[in-house]
Amino acid sequence: MADQPTSHPRKKLYIETVGCQMNVLDSELVVARLRDDGYELTTDIEEADAILYNTCSVRQHAEDKIYSALGRIKQLKKRKPELSIGVLGCMAQKDQNLILKRAPHVDIVVGPGQLARVPELLTIAKAEAKPQLAVSLARTAGSRDDVTSSFDNYDSDREPSVRPSPFQAYLRVMMGCDKFCTYCIVPSVRGPEQSRPPDGIVAEARALAGQGVKEITLIGQTVNSYKFREPDGRTTRLSDLLARLHDVEGVERIKFITNFPNDMTDDLLQAVRDLPKVSRYIHVPAQSGCDLVLKRMKRMYTVGFYEDMLARLRETIPGSSVSSDFIVGFCGETDESFQKTVGLVERSRFKNSFIFKYSPRTGTKADDLFADDVPEEVKKRRNHELLELQTAISLEDNMEFVGRETTVLVEGRSRSTTRREGWDGVDQLSGRTHCDRIVVFDGPERLIGRMVQVRIENASGVTLFGQVVTAERIASSV
Ligand code: 5AD
Ligand code: SF4
Repeated sequence: MADQPTSHPRKKLYIETVGCQMNVLDSELVVARLRDDGYELTTDIEEADAILYNTCSVRQHAEDKIYSALGRIKQLKKRKPELSIGVLGCMAQKDQNLILKRAPHVDIVVGPGQLARVPELLTIAKAEAKPQLAVSLARTAGSRDDVTSSFDNYDSDREPSVRPSPFQAYLRVMMGCDKFCTYCIVPSVRGPEQSRPPDGIVAEARALAGQGVKEITLIGQTVNSYKFREPDGRTTRLSDLLARLHDVEGVERIKFITNFPNDMTDDLLQAVRDLPKVSRYIHVPAQSGCDLVLKRMKRMYTVGFYEDMLARLRETIPGSSVSSDFIVGFCGETDESFQKTVGLVERSRFKNSFIFKYSPRTGTKADDLFADDVPEEVKKRRNHELLELQTAISLEDNMEFVGRETTVLVEGRSRSTTRREGWDGVDQLSGRTHCDRIVVFDGPERLIGRMVQVRIENASGVTLFGQVVTAERIASSV
């Protein structure tokens, strides 16, 4: 392409995002701001004018990866001193100046509550030739209002080009967390729980639908604790919000993650049952199947309570699927307590479970109070055992779909598709059922973003495989 002599060449931004959906959305918002500031995205780190890492602190491993990435780009900065390097997100809030100590070539360190300032901080760092740090107040550093307002909300900026796909978007309904599970760093780095005003959320959903978004995933650390009180006393719960979002034209599917077991109220379950656009899929982490461990985790429920909640959920929403998170090897987890978790997984028949080895986090209650006393090999073994059990259950449940037809929202080309030489024009597409199961099938790319009927022919633990049911196919099979 010919150079445009009149315009300034745009600066190149390389951004890497790790961690949860909150981070994916945060990166979208940062990119939107930086585009206004003359940046365009690149996937080639060598040609970047700015390299940003949006980081996660939930487990040590995620932090180690960022510190080694920072080590790798040290030479790049030496060769190109004008290169800007930024560490954003949870690790920035947690480690603050430690990042600059360990990686002095970093220019900006910006916590998740200060991301709107990224463009300004990049400019100041350059002008003053001095690293810039912008973080929110620690939870104990002031009144709740002061701490809360140090976590900025700038969700109205959106940038379609960095979304998971053009028709899928995240929408934040709340920020922060007040549960303080003893193992978890999130309440410290993402600040106090705040629900956003419903009018703003609905307006954002309309804007997203206007950009072609068909599937909206509402996100919050404990999304089902969402509650917004208007000055006149009226309260909007998540169930009310779902009903309002259901009316937004163009939106075809609505999901919400992640749920806290204690806040799974009947009004919410009934909303999922009664609103056809809402996915019949609930992610509600149990974390452990042992009451003693749950108590040490300060999860504020017992296994009995969790299982009653699950029974109520399944009774209210037929055809729903449930997924969970588990931490294995938490402080004091004996073989006996682990076996109780195995029992819970056997009984619960989750669609899938995300299983993590406990990773002690500085600044959490568990790290202060309990010894990390389960050896790494035991954590690994328990992780493996639980995953194997879950995969076997997922496979059994997926096999139930074989021979059935299901409606699928087509998300994109299947990751396993490789266009080989002599490619015959048929893509493998991937999408999800109403209960969030992944379905892979042959079909043309133009189906992406559409709802199609698929007959399931085979299944693995994570995927259903099938064929699109079309008029011709039905006719030829008669
Ligand atoms: N160690 C391991 N896993 C953790 N999680 C949160 N904190 C930790 C930790 N310190 C897991 C929980 C949570 C998921 C997002 O990450 O299972 O639900
Ligand atoms: Fe962390 Fe618990 Fe809050 Fe989830 S509910 S973000 S695990 S403190």
